[in-house]
Amino acid sequence: MPKLMSVEDCEELSTKQVHDLYRRYVSRSQVSLMNSFGFGRELVERAEGPWIYMRDGTRVLDLSGGVGVLNHGHNHPRVLAARERFARERRMEVHKAFFSPYVAALSHNIAELLPGDLAISYFPNSGAEANEGAIKMAYKYHGGRRNTILRADISFHGKTLGAGSLTGSAENHFQFPGLPNAVVYPYGDVEAVRAAVEATRKPDGKCDVYALMVEPFSASSLRSWSGPALTELRRLCTAEDIVLIFDEIYTGWGKTGTLFHFMRHEGLVPDILVYSKSLGGGKASISGYTAREPLFRKAYDRLSDVILHSTTYYGFGEETATAIEAVNVVVEDDYPARARAIEAILTPGLERIRKAYPEAVERTTGVGALHGVFLGGGPKLLDLAGKLVPGFTKDPRFRTKLITLSVIAHLYREHRVMTYYSPNVENPLMVAPTLVIEPAEIEYFLTALEETLAVGLRRLLTGFIREKAGAAW
Ligand SMILES: Cc1ncc(COP(=O)(O)O)c(C=O)c1O
Repeated sequence: MPKLMSVEDCEELSTKQVHDLYRRYVSRSQVSLMNSFGFGRELVERAEGPWIYMRDGTRVLDLSGGVGVLNHGHNHPRVLAARERFARERRMEVHKAFFSPYVAALSHNIAELLPGDLAISYFPNSGAEANEGAIKMAYKYHGGRRNTILRADISFHGKTLGAGSLTGSAENHFQFPGLPNAVVYPYGDVEAVRAAVEATRKPDGKCDVYALMVEPFSASSLRSWSGPALTELRRLCTAEDIVLIFDEIYTGWGKTGTLFHFMRHEGLVPDILVYSKSLGGGKASISGYTAREPLFRKAYDRLSDVILHSTTYYGFGEETATAIEAVNVVVEDDYPARARAIEAILTPGLERIRKAYPEAVERTTGVGALHGVFLGGGPKLLDLAGKLVPGFTKDPRFRTKLITLSVIAHLYREHRVMTYYSPNVENPLMVAPTLVIEPAEIEYFLTALEETLAVGLRRLLTGFIREKAGAAW
């Protein structure tokens, strides 16, 4: 008999044993990366709301919001109850041969919540899969007669081959094969999109673009399109019959202060909306995309195409039931209003800190419960970062990243606050709390950040690097 570990065994493993298992069976580099923040040095016992409880009895305030997954916080009681009920009643997970009342109800509810004729939904499991489903639908809508897809220079659409080829992020630095004819436009620039569309025009005057990928608010760079620019994109796509796809995988379900970010702009409707993350209430791995009805009908609505796009786990029972409850919580507890209330504390709080530490904080920006603190410290500190980690002297991005990492590590170790950084060009420190965080907890974070910056970036950086010395970057 092979010697296999049980679930109970997992609960007994020490941190060192888990590290050893990771080194041997998962990834050595991951151990090094996670240890550098401090997060990797302890194990989590459980998590509730905005708090993570560690095995040593301490608790950590989670300001990462699970990178978009945890609008409901950890283990929301209603979300848990829905899952428990599903299991208790021995509901069926799989079998596409039977209808799922859960898929039917979730699609219905989402159509109720979205504007215009966004009505037909499909529920895979990851954001990348949902984007690829949307792209396939756009391609099929044009019957394979158009071949160009447009994506922004600053973009994150996932890491599968297709979605990854549309992702312009430092995380995605290796060139894998991907979708053909993916043309890049500068984020937020309507005229550049128009020029890119024109450049594809064939001698007969026909446009070759089948889809335009847009993140109305880019969570990785904290940039957003203006309302008039999005309206102009809508007009252009309608005129040229281009499928306008909004990727709101991160920003959906209330995060930025409206149910979806684009919904703050009256009358704006994409052709396909893609979402994920908090759709699963922090418990279920479920994503989705919803198309306007005429688009879906033309692309797929015939018997021969019924299973042209499907995946094993799409509409999986417990995931879908969980999502129904998660969406109901978002609506009943008015998560967009919660995000706006968080913004009302975070925006002035971060601005106050920027003013108090103008040398350290270049700027802060954000909306709802999604903010970034851009740390710098000036050319001298950047030089120091380059000298302390030779080999990266000429890489400005890596040097800013080091500074941000040293602040994240200090916040975590000294104040038990968890944040993260966005690996985009400027590496901001991300402040993206769950929507169940209390005002006093936000104030606790702001004080922690202030006290961290009071130590001085130079000291934070040298301490951080000294400790990391010898480890692989
Ligand atoms: C805007 C956006 N699109 C797509 C994705 C990819 O989702 P997944 O990691 O579930 O494939 C993400 C993930 O962070 C995202 O933020």
